[in-house]
Amino acid sequence: MKALVYHGPGQKAWEEKPKPTILNPADAIVRVSKTTICGTDLHILKGDTPEVTEGRILGHEGVGVIEEVGSGVTTFKKGDHVLISCITSCGKCDYCKKGMYSHCENGGWILGHLIDGTQAEYVRIPFADNSLYRIPDGSDEEALVMLSDILPTGFECGVLNGQVKPGDTVVIVGSGPVGLAALLTVQFYSPAEIIMIDLDDNRLNIAKTFGATRTINSRNTDAVEKVMGLTNKKGADTVIEAVGTPATFELCESLVAPGGRIANIGVHGKSVTLHLETLWSQNITITTRLVDTVTTPMLLKTVQSKKLNPLQLITHRFKLSDIIRAYDTFQHADREKALKVILTNE
Ligand SMILES: NC(=O)c1ccc[n+]([C@@H]2O[C@H](COP(=O)([O-])OP(=O)(O)OC[C@H]3O[C@@H](n4cnc5c(N)ncnc54)[C@H](O)[C@@H]3O)[C@@H](O)[C@H]2O)c1
Ligand SMILES: [Zn+2]
Ligand SMILES: [Zn+2]
Repeated sequence: MKALVYHGPGQKAWEEKPKPTILNPADAIVRVSKTTICGTDLHILKGDTPEVTEGRILGHEGVGVIEEVGSGVTTFKKGDHVLISCITSCGKCDYCKKGMYSHCENGGWILGHLIDGTQAEYVRIPFADNSLYRIPDGSDEEALVMLSDILPTGFECGVLNGQVKPGDTVVIVGSGPVGLAALLTVQFYSPAEIIMIDLDDNRLNIAKTFGATRTINSRNTDAVEKVMGLTNKKGADTVIEAVGTPATFELCESLVAPGGRIANIGVHGKSVTLHLETLWSQNITITTRLVDTVTTPMLLKTVQSKKLNPLQLITHRFKLSDIIRAYDTFQHADREKALKVILTNE
């Protein structure tokens, strides 16, 4: 089969690899029908995740059809149409029993990271019973690819941890696919104001069409002054960090209202200053989370009932065999006005 293979920082190739086989009784082999590229794949290619070794097939998102199941798989059979979760979970360890699949002692984020991933014609999924979700008949496959990672990430790490309530003022710092996924799912809770902050006017304009009540380009505006002006100098009830830099986390610290919450989503590579000299008395909560994908069944229902339209996040489509060009488009997101790209295995 053909797959997108990592060959060390800056190096990748679309090349021949052996078709995966069942290694454990709980495994399933899935023929990938659609997959996508994540910002995290770009982090891997930059060399930010040294645990990814040469020869690894990348990708942790996708939908497909089951080709073969191991003798221990009870929920799925050959021919079933499935959504692949970016998080692999055994369902049996202490963390899984708490619903913290991201910390599964036998899985977690391993696809396209510690084991071969979904940017390939076929993929092996360990613990298939717990790590795959049945796709209802008549579903739009492209929309569901957005449920492998970015929608549960925005919802769980941003909206649920941020404890958003009706009437709240919410600020989302970062209007990339993950910040936009938080913007789409925060609307389940009817906040009064959703203020999006980014440096890219194109992404802020998209945010307006997705339901942002205000947008701020922090390149040319003082975002703290602006948010304080809009909130009677109080700040926001929930501030969601969806970038992953010291500057944007510190911006969140300046924007949170007394009693409010900072819900971090961003992956941080550098330490951040925590301004306890001002925050110690402000009754705030700071949360962090690696996406668990425990809300995937709920999000699937909201897509089925058309409360959520993930297709809005897709800007480009390619054949899977054209993945090198798709990476180029995704890597130049500003120039190409790209959000998510869909790759189809024809
Ligand atoms: N916690 C998790 O489980 C989890 C899962 C998936 C992704 N992530 C992380 O979420 C973050 C967002 O992911 P994404 O795919 O949307 O990334 P992205 O790079 O596409 O989007 C980030 C956005 O932030 C904006 N930005 C950059 N610097 C800024 C600044 N100083 N002020 C305002 N805006 C700024 C960029 O213009 C961009 O639109 C990343 O750090 C990613 O690694 C976390
Ligand atoms: Zn991802
Ligand atoms: Zn587990």
